Amino acid sequence: MADFLTLQEMAVKARTNLSRNHWDYLIGAAETETTMKRNRASLDALSFRPRVLNDVSEVRAATEFMGHALRLPILLPPIGSIQVFEAGGGASVAEAADTFGAMMMLSSACAPGFEEVAKVGTAPKVYQLYLVGDQSWMDDIIARAIEAGFVGFCLTVDTAVYSRRERDLLKRYIPASGRQAGVADFGYQAKMTWDTVAHIKQKFRIPLWLKGINTADDARRAVEAGVDVVYVSNHGGRQLDHGRGGMEALPEVIAAVERRVPVVVDGGFIRGTDVIKGLCAGADLVGMGRFEALAMAAGGASALVHALGILEHEIRASMALLGAPTLADLHPGLVQPSPLLEPVHVLSAFPLLTQDY
Ligand SMILES: Cc1cc2nc3c(=O)[nH]c(=O)nc-3n(C[C@H](O)[C@H](O)[C@H](O)COP(=O)(O)O)c2cc1C
Repeated sequence: MADFLTLQEMAVKARTNLSRNHWDYLIGAAETETTMKRNRASLDALSFRPRVLNDVSEVRAATEFMGHALRLPILLPPIGSIQVFEAGGGASVAEAADTFGAMMMLSSACAPGFEEVAKVGTAPKVYQLYLVGDQSWMDDIIARAIEAGFVGFCLTVDTAVYSRRERDLLKRYIPASGRQAGVADFGYQAKMTWDTVAHIKQKFRIPLWLKGINTADDARRAVEAGVDVVYVSNHGGRQLDHGRGGMEALPEVIAAVERRVPVVVDGGFIRGTDVIKGLCAGADLVGMGRFEALAMAAGGASALVHALGILEHEIRASMALLGAPTLADLHPGLVQPSPLLEPVHVLSAFPLLTQDY
């Protein structure tokens, strides 16, 4: 049974359980790690404008997303090589998602395989594929993902090549997925275009997600191409360096999409207040990558369920203090830009940590 009371303690547990290599793989980002820092900075540079004297004796943070009942408006995003943080890998995430009532996305770059993970529990699962084969290879995988019961299929479009992750490069570390930082693979991922999107939409009925959209132009184009979910992400700062923070990119995408399809966002979200800020800006779901990975490293499925319980508490308490008893009460007027108080880093949402990152 997980025994931490705060997400800060969860991070300490994760750090204690992991080797330096695996820890750096988890928290690290590309090159100067500026994009990753901007993810945090774009959240920390927003403050709340709470309303008072609303009855908040009952606060509801549960939601429905594309017909799926979710206990929180969050997504457990795809984490490649997640089995190095806890041996159960994607199967443990599926178990936790089922127990808690969350939605997950499984990476094709992790173990066990997608057909095995599909059988674990009944949580809604989306399959995220990196293309390592031609169109007929991809078609075969999509057909099998549909057959296995995945409720969505996702292309990650910010990874035309694998980036230079210098924490890993300095140590000559190669993740379990075998993709080596700095060794650019201009393979099938790099050949992906809007034609790939059109082909999938024309051939398959499964909802298609594009993960890694960062501009209004691409968001509009995605909606016009029939994409079912637009996912704003910079891969946790692990791909293009010197990008904008997730919260900086979100508003123009929300405006361009005009509520025609749901919008998911990630990048630096690790606290309840972070999730609320994303929802205030108009996102339908918030992805929490390092949150998921840290929880897994802290103790597998049970730690992830426990962490989600703490997150739920954080979200509901902050909604009450904002005078917003339901998710429908969250809107842009509840936040405003504010000066950053301190320099940010990947775990600056956990200020009581004393470790070396
Ligand atoms: C260790 C690790 C592995 C990841 N692997 C993948 C992956 O296989 N596919 C993918 O689309 N995104 C991957 N991501 C990105 C996440 O899905 C998500 O976009 C990102 O973690 C969000 O930022 P956050 O960590 O600040 O929450 C990975 C992230 C981390 C931390």
